[in-house]
Amino acid sequence: MPDSLLRVLACGSVDDGKSTLIGRLLFECGTIPDDVMLALERDSKRFGTVAGGIDYALLVDGLSAERDQGITIDVAYRFFETPRRRFILADAPGHEQYTRNMVTGASGSDLAVLLVDARKGLLPQTRRHAAIASLLGIRQLVLAVNKMDLVAFGQDVFNKIVADFYRLSGKLGPLQVTAIPVCARDGDNVTSPSTRMPWYSGTTLLTALESAEPTSHAAERTFRMPIQLVARPDHAFRGYAGTVATGVIRPGAAVMNAVSGTEARVARIVTMDGDLDEAAPADAITLVLDREIDVSRGDVLAVAPPPPLADQVTAWVVWMDETPLFRGRAYLFMLGSRSVVGTITDIANRLDVNTLTEEPVRELGLNEIGRVTISLAQRVACERYSVSRELGGFILIDRLTRGTVGAGMITDLRAGAGDIYWHRLDVDKRARSALMGQKPAVLWFTGLSASGKSTIANLVEKRLHAQGRHTMSLDGDNVRHGLNRDLGFSEADRVENIRRVAEVSRLFVDAGLIVLVSFISPYRAERMLARDCVEDSEFLEIFVDTPVEECRRRDPKGLYARADAGQIRNFTGVDAPYEEPLDPEIRLPTLEAPPEVLAERVVDELMRRGIVG
Ligand code: ADX
Repeated sequence: MPDSLLRVLACGSVDDGKSTLIGRLLFECGTIPDDVMLALERDSKRFGTVAGGIDYALLVDGLSAERDQGITIDVAYRFFETPRRRFILADAPGHEQYTRNMVTGASGSDLAVLLVDARKGLLPQTRRHAAIASLLGIRQLVLAVNKMDLVAFGQDVFNKIVADFYRLSGKLGPLQVTAIPVCARDGDNVTSPSTRMPWYSGTTLLTALESAEPTSHAAERTFRMPIQLVARPDHAFRGYAGTVATGVIRPGAAVMNAVSGTEARVARIVTMDGDLDEAAPADAITLVLDREIDVSRGDVLAVAPPPPLADQVTAWVVWMDETPLFRGRAYLFMLGSRSVVGTITDIANRLDVNTLTEEPVRELGLNEIGRVTISLAQRVACERYSVSRELGGFILIDRLTRGTVGAGMITDLRAGAGDIYWHRLDVDKRARSALMGQKPAVLWFTGLSASGKSTIANLVEKRLHAQGRHTMSLDGDNVRHGLNRDLGFSEADRVENIRRVAEVSRLFVDAGLIVLVSFISPYRAERMLARDCVEDSEFLEIFVDTPVEECRRRDPKGLYARADAGQIRNFTGVDAPYEEPLDPEIRLPTLEAPPEVLAERVVDELMRRGIVG
């Protein structure tokens, strides 16, 4: 059996014949069982688009939805082999909304086949795929110019597309490009040289695949394994389960927890099928060590030198969500088996996939690619993606919906906020609040404009003040005159508005104060971020619950009237959303009781929680 393995990513735009090409390849390599072949002949008659012949695309487009629409909608992995090597082919769909699948298919691939329709030339989709493939570390590309029969096998058509592509690929860094004119439907230059393009003397697609270099030498690198589970079935056994990312490991080897730095030796390599003498990349194993060291899920066991630890990473991020990525917003950052909260601290720029130039932006929309800096709540063992795909690639998860919203490739990492370190202060929050004889807290009032937030917060503060409590108020309208005067009411600006106010509240809590915050704060994600800034018991979300009709009726500043008249855009409750709290500590229904009574309720709750005595 051939032992060299090549991972290939096939990508192309809709309709440029990718499925047909792959089907051809599988068919000519003889990997299609006879019964599938019979079914293919039958289906070609029923669904096929090739009059009288076999439609090879049907071999690949397995799903009925794809048949109906004539597109491929998921990454499918196909296996085939020739006498020279084995192949795993990831088939990535062409539609823009499936960029996510493209990223999935590309990570781990050695080579990408980019399909282009000879009649159409390079499309935005082709450029996007080339850019993503390159960002994901694929350094070998085959440009398959398909449907050459439909351009009369014209050499000049081919040459022009190739020249266009070289202009583009020059900007993608070092890339090895092989351009091949093909007619997938008839098999020209797929596995055997075409007689219809005598002007072409290069290789066929299959020869190009057979002679490509595998780039992932995961086994030759230093051992790293992210821990998925600490197995402790009984007192006698303690093992660390995971999948080997890079390197090989044997019993007796010295390993360390990359996060804590503690060391031990491997005593056993346990698997379902008995102990191993050696484990290699992609093996799922449980390591038993010769002594107890502190290892938890998400840590990385490594042979020295260990991977660096970072709490700030800069990365290329491919955004996959309808809601844009905003600076200041926090997501779950998942790398290996580790997940920590990561806050976007900067969006440096967006990659224009057509020109491959970078342009400054404030947000990243669906399917856009940008260079982003993320600050992590804890230090994580990671690498640059160019050093290790396994420890350099991550995904971003929405903390509320739990959906995957982005995929990233680390380009730079730092420990500590650059060269800024936490300075330990002897007089801390505890000392400061003890002097004032109170517990610090954040009272976070959220609700629509004119819901009554500031009115109630003001009454609560007066009560606390009268009791001798030390307080501070942060009010949307006021803070927007100073600290946040540079911000407007776009989604991105509101995210940043709340991020800053959350940070300022944290400082005031450190000062030992009871902070009253009154901001619309329309997004759950940012209110969650504000909550994370302080200890759990210190944060009270107070939902000032007033229906929008009532706010509109009150309209003390006349803003609703102006928003209705179209004079103010993005007005919360009119043409911008308000996400109601799902589980606030206190809900204040302003239609049911006057502000004085509601303020009393807040003070009662503070007493009940022991924040004020
Ligand atoms: S937030 O959405 O970013 O939290 P914030 O509480 O700071 O808003 O500011 C809201 C105040 O700004 C409102 O009470 C209102 O007086 C004023 N304002 C001006 N334009 C808008 C707008 N488009 N949407 C909401 N409030 C606005």
